[in-house]
Amino acid sequence: MTTDNDGAKTGCVNWGIVGTGDISRSIASDMGLVKGANLRAVASRSQERAVTAAQEFGADRGCSFAELVDAHDIDAIYIGTPHATHRSLAIAALNAGKHVLIEKPVGLNGSEVREIASVAAARGLFAMEAMWMKFNPLYRQLKEEIAAGAIGDVMSVRASFGIPFPKDVGSRWSSELGGSTLLDQCIYPVTLALDILGLPTSIAAIGTMRPDGIDTRQHVTLEFPEGRYAQLAASMVEFVEPTASISGTTGWTTMSFPFWAGRSYSTTRGSKLFEPSVVKANFAGYGYSAMLEAVNEAIKSGDLEHSLHKWSEVFAVFEVLDEIRSQMNGVGPADIVRARK
Ligand SMILES: NC(=O)c1ccc[n+]([C@@H]2O[C@H](COP(=O)([O-])OP(=O)(O)OC[C@H]3O[C@@H](n4cnc5c(N)ncnc54)[C@H](OP(=O)(O)O)[C@@H]3O)[C@@H](O)[C@H]2O)c1
Repeated sequence: MTTDNDGAKTGCVNWGIVGTGDISRSIASDMGLVKGANLRAVASRSQERAVTAAQEFGADRGCSFAELVDAHDIDAIYIGTPHATHRSLAIAALNAGKHVLIEKPVGLNGSEVREIASVAAARGLFAMEAMWMKFNPLYRQLKEEIAAGAIGDVMSVRASFGIPFPKDVGSRWSSELGGSTLLDQCIYPVTLALDILGLPTSIAAIGTMRPDGIDTRQHVTLEFPEGRYAQLAASMVEFVEPTASISGTTGWTTMSFPFWAGRSYSTTRGSKLFEPSVVKANFAGYGYSAMLEAVNEAIKSGDLEHSLHKWSEVFAVFEVLDEIRSQMNGVGPADIVRARK
């Protein structure tokens, strides 16, 4: 943004990416669709993977994380690594003066999340959890319709994200790396419920926690003022229909799979039960560009957070996630990572 040496572009946000996995690949590709975003470097724990990924992702160079945070031509860093690494990478990047966009879950628990937010605020830097669902144009349209009264007074949310992960491979099955269906999948239904219904008054959760601290499934009831409620479920060991619905006094709306990356929704109103109206989206790329564009603009404007996904909202989500974990009688990933240090 402010630099103009060696290919860094003035007027653009010059980005670095940490991690060379699938999500970084998709983010890099969608970043290519964002005007004013300039992908400069990809960091990996291996120099070879960094160079290969940089070539594949269209970045100028591959490097180590230490080189990335020290680089003068990098304004902002996207962190696409396993959950348990987010806190330390984000804080190191912020302390080096870089804005950060951190994959969900932004931390392992509420205290990590608050720590990242407070370092960002103290440094005067932009930081955000990459909760792309909230930036999805179709989701934003749906919220506008609901606010305009399309289904009357909203009374309940039902949302689930159950998709089995390939067994025993990858960071999702590592307690040290933060493996957890709560943090990986349930975070979307919880974020949706709070975004639509506000702050819950009570939380009741049941789930399965392995002895190593990896939670594999849960179902949750949240209650809200005036009799409103949310029923949420997640699983990394079985399918639980990955759709969502929002119901009100005059109808309901159903967000098709994958509800967190809205491609279509249908609205059914009381007098036309068999004639739902369907809205479909057509977007380029993998669906991350709306978020990337919004973050890019926020950084250019000097904002420290984005109004579509404020820190206060993330704190509220993590209060719910922490309470769900405690009701599952679980030692969570954060405790395991701490205990092994
Ligand atoms: N928004 C979405 O749609 C979406 C989708 C999938 C995942 N995610 C999130 O993205 C994050 C990464 O998920 P993933 O499945 O891509 O993870 P992953 O494949 O296990 O790891 C991603 C990359 O992180 C680096 N890495 C692995 N272990 C590391 C460690 N101990 N320390 C530092 N870097 C490490 C590796 O790159 P190098 O070996 O090159 O260092 C790896 O390729 C998670 O937080 C997940 O929740 C989001």
